[in-house]
This record gives sequence, C-alpha cells and structure tokens, in this order.
Amino acid sequence: MADFMPVGGPVLPEDVVDREAFMDDVVARLLDRHSVVLSAPRRLGKSSVAYEVLRRLREQENCHTAAVDVSTVSTVQDLAERLIATCIADLEPGARAFQTARRSLGRLLRMPEVRARMFDLELSVGLGPGEQPSPEALLAEALALPERIAERNGRPFVLLFDEFQTTEAIGGAQLLAQLRGAFQLQRHTAFLFLGSQAGTMAQLFGSSAEAFYRFATMLDLPPVPDEAWRTYIHRKFSGRGIPIDDGAIDVILGVTGGHPYDTMQVAYEAYLLARRSRRVDARLVGAACVEAEMHLRQVFEAELDALGSKSRVLLGRVADSTSLYAGERSSGTVDRALTKLVRQGVLRHLSHGHYEFVEPMLARHLAAAGR
Ligand SMILES: Nc1ncnc2c1ncn2[C@@H]1O[C@H](COP(=O)(O)OP(=O)(O)OP(=O)(O)O)[C@@H](O)[C@H]1O
Ligand SMILES: [Mg+2]
Repeated sequence: MADFMPVGGPVLPEDVVDREAFMDDVVARLLDRHSVVLSAPRRLGKSSVAYEVLRRLREQENCHTAAVDVSTVSTVQDLAERLIATCIADLEPGARAFQTARRSLGRLLRMPEVRARMFDLELSVGLGPGEQPSPEALLAEALALPERIAERNGRPFVLLFDEFQTTEAIGGAQLLAQLRGAFQLQRHTAFLFLGSQAGTMAQLFGSSAEAFYRFATMLDLPPVPDEAWRTYIHRKFSGRGIPIDDGAIDVILGVTGGHPYDTMQVAYEAYLLARRSRRVDARLVGAACVEAEMHLRQVFEAELDALGSKSRVLLGRVADSTSLYAGERSSGTVDRALTKLVRQGVLRHLSHGHYEFVEPMLARHLAAAGR
C-alpha cells in the first residue's frame, strides 16, 4: 500500500507540494535560534510543512527534535509527561524509548525521593518525602529537558508545538507565563509554534498583554503556486500510467483555487474515475468535482452549523457576490461578523467591503445550497 494523492493528516515528504523555499527559510531561522509561529486556517498544510522541517533539522542539521500536539493534551500534568516522553524518545528513537520514558516517569511520580534516571539524564523534583510533585513542578522539569539534552550533546534542540492556541484552555494565562518563562532562558533550543486560529495566534504573539508577546517571528504559509500543482499532478498521474492534460488540471485548480486539501481530493476523484478510460480531460474533471463536493458536503454543513446561522447568511452573500449590508440595520454588526469570520480562517479580507473564501469549494457549496 502506498500513499496516492493523500488527504487527511500531514503528508509524506514526497507529497509536500511546493513549500521548498518556505521550508528552507523556516529551517534557517530555527537553526539561528529564531523561534517561529506558523498560523494558517485548517487544512492548508501547516503540519505537513512543520514535520518535514523537523525531519530536515534532524537528518541534515544534526538537531534534536520533538513535537507535542497541544490539542490532544488535557492537563498540565499530561503536558509535562508528553514533553518528557517525546524528548526522551528523540534520544533513542523507537517505541521502546517511549515506553522507557513512560516507565521512568511513573517511577519519578511514585518515588518519595522523586528522582528518576532516563538514559543518563536525571530528572528530579524537589519535594519532601511522601509528597507527590505538583503538575507545575513536573512541567518545570519537563521544560528544562530539551535545553539540558542540547547542552549535554552539543546539538541544538527544536521543539514543535502543534495547535498551540489550545494551551490556554489547559492552564490559562498562568501556564502560558510558565512556558514563556522557561523558554526565554534557553540558549540551545528553538521553538516552532503552529496554530489553526490565526486570530488567536496573532493575539498570543502580538499583543503586549500576552506572555508570548514578540517571542517568535510570525510567518504566513504562502499559497501553493499553480505551476507546482501542475508538475505534481502530472507526475502522480503519469506514475500510474494515466495522462492528464493541462486543461484538465486548470479546471481542478479553477474549482479548488489551489487549496491543498481540496486540490488533492478533487485530483484523487479524477484518478478514480479515469481508471477505466485511462485518460483525464476537462469533462471527467467536472464529474470528479461533483464527487468531491458530495464528500465535502457533510464537513461543510458541520462547519457552517458551528459558525451559526447569521454567519451562514453572510457567507452566502459573499459567495453570491451580493451586497453584504442589504436589509441590515447596522453596518457595524455586519463588519464585526466579517472580522470574526476572517479571524476564524473562513474568509480573507481583500479590500474595503471585499472578501474571498479561504476555501473556494465552501463558496461553491453555499451557492449550490442557496439555489
Ligand atoms: N504542501 C502540500 N502539498 C500537498 N498536499 C497538501 C499540502 N499541504 C496540505 N496538503 C493537503 O492537506 C491535508 C492536510 O494537511 P496538514 O495536516 O498538513 O494541514 P494542517 O494545516 O496542519 O491542517 P489542520 O489545521 O487540520 O491541522 C493533507 O493531508 C493534504 O491532503
Ligand atoms: Mg495540523
């Protein structure tokens, strides 16, 4: 079994379309110990880029790397345990290292003297006999670990936090302050923060009231150029013995706007339909779009439900290019709702009163649903 036009989570290095210059830039920054924030709406490829950046840092630049997906962490204690386990696993890759780390951590938490050795690193939490370490004390130990590993081995450490905007829900402003306090003292560790709520990430790293104010450089994930998609789709289809002409690829890109997930999805449906005819033309791509729209319908409806009925009406107007303010008593209310949709990563602001969809297929869905 091999990945073909993958849709879902982060893709393998050979399926990361374009992004070469961007990844090069992120690697260079992290090597110079400039931490980076990468925020972009859902499904545009943050994790694919970030995990490939980590792979390059590990394999080509001799860095230690570790990653935590904060959206799957429930408590401060859990965050500490995950951090320790992922850092230790990097010292000796493989499931066994992870289990060793977990076991040692279990000992650390049970032992009255609260000391544990993992490989040749000693973790210790200063406690009286019989006391359990507080989650914060354990986290302090976990946060110091990458730096200690980096210093001991003379190799920089790069730590990735995926879905970082969910940190606040775990431990509030106090947790953010503890993280910042620990990170800013480190001299051999750089951080890569990902977030799918650009508005929240901008607030976290850009507001002077926040602990992470200007802690890292904020980068935008650029769009994948059409030319890169053409080259990739040609290569994948010809690898399976199915020619696809440029006109057909242009129809795909016209419908998806080059949105990474949707482009993969439509191209894959085109491949499935072309298995018998062994050729892809614009007509077949039209049918592939209909298939992809059917698969995306439920996802879009769930997303629209979560946004609420007022947002849906407004988005319908953007999709139909009708007046955004028609029949509204207050233009301020409409403007605030639009700003929120931009923050939520649904719309992009172009110019005064003009917006476009981050995901053009959502606009098509709304326009079709309105008919
Ligand atoms: N550069 C890319 N090349 C090809 N496909 C991509 C690329 N980026 C994203 N994709 C497509 O989008 C899907 C989601 O990618 P990824 O998980 O990296 O995005 P994300 O921004 O981290 O999403 P989320 O916000 O849901 O975590 C991939 O499975 C793939 O189909
Ligand atoms: Mg992701």
